[in-house]
Amino acid sequence: MKTKKKGGFSGQLGFVMAAAGSAVGVGNIWRFPYLTAKDGGGLFLLVYLALVLTFGFTLLTSDLAIGRKTKMSSIYAYGQVKSGWKFLGYITFVVPALIMTYYAIIGGWITKYILIYLTNSSKDAVKDNYFTDFITSKVSPIVLMLIFMTITSIIVFLGVEKGIEKFSKIIMPGLFVIIVGIAIYSLTLSHNVTLPSGKQITRTGLDGLKVYVIPDFSGLTVKKFLQVLLDAMSQLFFSLSVSMGIMITYGSYVKDDIDLNKAVSQIEIFDTAAAFLAGLMIIPSIFVFSGVEGMSAGPGLIFISLPKVFNEMGIAGKVVGLVFFVMVFFAALSSCISVLETLVANCMELFKVSRKKVTVILTLIYMLASIVVCLGYNVFYFEVKLPNGSTGQLLDIMDYISNSFLMPLISLISAILIGWVVGPDWIIGEVCKNGEKFRRKLIYRIMIKYIAPVIMFVLFLQSIGVF
Ligand code: PHE
Ligand code: NA
Repeated sequence: MKTKKKGGFSGQLGFVMAAAGSAVGVGNIWRFPYLTAKDGGGLFLLVYLALVLTFGFTLLTSDLAIGRKTKMSSIYAYGQVKSGWKFLGYITFVVPALIMTYYAIIGGWITKYILIYLTNSSKDAVKDNYFTDFITSKVSPIVLMLIFMTITSIIVFLGVEKGIEKFSKIIMPGLFVIIVGIAIYSLTLSHNVTLPSGKQITRTGLDGLKVYVIPDFSGLTVKKFLQVLLDAMSQLFFSLSVSMGIMITYGSYVKDDIDLNKAVSQIEIFDTAAAFLAGLMIIPSIFVFSGVEGMSAGPGLIFISLPKVFNEMGIAGKVVGLVFFVMVFFAALSSCISVLETLVANCMELFKVSRKKVTVILTLIYMLASIVVCLGYNVFYFEVKLPNGSTGQLLDIMDYISNSFLMPLISLISAILIGWVVGPDWIIGEVCKNGEKFRRKLIYRIMIKYIAPVIMFVLFLQSIGVF
């Protein structure tokens, strides 16, 4: 059954950059800052950090080690971990298969905002309903999606080392520099605002920093704390791109002499730093110009609130806006690449066809599927209430099934497989196969056997609306 993998990452740096490329995405930029602002600033940061080092570390280590040991993508990989468990590989395959129907659409929206700033029409983006009018229009979201999908496909088509690794090695450091730059700029902001009471005050970026990092324990109840925990956990595994087969596929490209334990730490640091810095970039600037009370999550934050903030910055805002959307574009692109790569790799193994052929076929299928999802905003418009209480269109349904419903379920089953069926030593042995040290080994054992299953079960119940 083993087909020899042709391509792979050249070394540790290429691997870590590619994995960080998958991890750092819109989740870091439009979800992490929102959750932090909502969940008591520094309180959320502390909880999140503690969870990354324990729970996130466990899930990421497991996925990467499964990939490297089996040298296969999710479908065959789970089948090799234990015979009879291929079903888990198929369920895992469904997550990127669904994400791919809408990720390039979001990429297209980001491309639109780059064009807005390039053509100096950012004033328009401040108008009410501008974003809604755009995404519900019939032609341009489709055209821009097709462009984004094509770029993604070209890189996947070029292969693991010549495409994904090369691209990530250039893009990821650049992305980091931009985030740091905008974060520093946002700390230097200040603005006079008139409060509803008529009082004049000056808000500065440094005040915004306090809002961001100082824990707010006011009104903290057990119930609220549990909500903070749940928010941090669901953000965490979405953010690290675990439990969707992506890190299994990337793990399958890792050479046997690479220190996986060290690589996991580096990926964790990169993703968490990017999320923290994204908050540093966004929370102070929103605070300075409009207060953080009304800060929204998701597309609304970067496509509606931030353009207003950039507009308030005057000329500088035009530059900052452009650089910001270019950065978001590359963050989304490297994530989208990892989703398509996971689908391509699985299909190559399943159907024994070449990378080039699979990439072209999947691209065409997903272009069609994405057109349908785009039309979910106009021609096929409908709205449904999701089990977790939110309402949404076609795109939100795909997002709900893949991220809210399937990901905790997969993590749960996978934790049972590793913790109880094959045992944690299966993973530990792979990580330490050349005598490398496994730091946090005890934490790993406890998390995978006892804590991760409970956490995932609770998250799963939450996703189906039990509470
Ligand atoms: N990890 C990405 C982020 O934080 C999200 C993502 C999910 C990327 C699924 C690819 C696939 O934004
Ligand atoms: Na992330």
